[in-house]
Amino acid sequence: MSKIVAIDGPAGSGKGTIASIISKKCNLVNIDTGATYRCVALATIKNNLTLKDVDKIIELSSKIKIEFTNDNKVYLDDNDVTEEIRSKEVTKIVSPISSIVEVRKNMVKLQRKMAENNNVVMEGRDITTVVFPNANYKFYLDADIDTRADRRFKQYIEKGINMSLEEIKQNIEARDYNDMHKEMGSLTRCNDQIYIDSTNMTIDEVANTMINIINGGN
Ligand code: C5P
Repeated sequence: MSKIVAIDGPAGSGKGTIASIISKKCNLVNIDTGATYRCVALATIKNNLTLKDVDKIIELSSKIKIEFTNDNKVYLDDNDVTEEIRSKEVTKIVSPISSIVEVRKNMVKLQRKMAENNNVVMEGRDITTVVFPNANYKFYLDADIDTRADRRFKQYIEKGINMSLEEIKQNIEARDYNDMHKEMGSLTRCNDQIYIDSTNMTIDEVANTMINIINGGN
C-alpha cells in the first residue's frame, strides 16, 4: 500500500511550499492538485471558451493530457505550462471551473491515478475528504487572510506578476468563499484532520511539525 500524506487548506496557506519541502525530506512524490484545475482553466482560455460553456469545458477536462514531472514542471498536452497556469487570468477563473462537478470527477480520477504505486504528498482542497479520505496523514493548513494575501503578494513580486495587495486579498476571499461552498469537494474542516495555523509560524516550523508527525507515526 502506498503512503499518502494529504494536505488541504485555503489559498496562500503555504500548502505548496510545505508540500515541496516534505516531498524532498520524506522522499514522497509531490502532487499539486490545484495545478490540475489550473490546467483546465488554461485550456478553457486557450480554446476561447467562457465560463458559460460548461459542456465544452467538461469535454475539455476529459480530453486534455496533464502531466507532472519529477522536477515539479507541469505539462498540458505536451507543453510546459508551469508558469502560465499561475497567471492572473487563470487564477481568476479557476475556482468557478473547479466547481463544475463533472470537471471535479475527471480531476479526482486523474489525481488518484497519479498517486498509484507511489508514496505521495498531495495538496489541495478536498484531498483529506474526497480524493484520499483514508490517507495515512491528513493535515489542514490555515493562516489568517492578511498573512495569506501578504505571502501571495511577495510570491507574485518574485514571479513578476502585477497584482496589488488589495486585488490579491479580494481574489483570495472570493476563491475561499467559492471553495468552501461547492456542491462537491468543498474545502471543509473535519475531526480527523490535524489542524495547523501557520499565521505566526515560519516555513521551517510548519514543515518540521508535519515531518515529526509523519516520522513519529511510523
Ligand atoms: O491551490 P491553488 O490555489 O493552485 O488551486 C487553484 C484552485 O483550484 C483553488 O482556488 C480551488 O478552486 C481549486 N482546487 C480545488 N480542489 C483542489 C485543489 C484546487 O477545487 N483539490
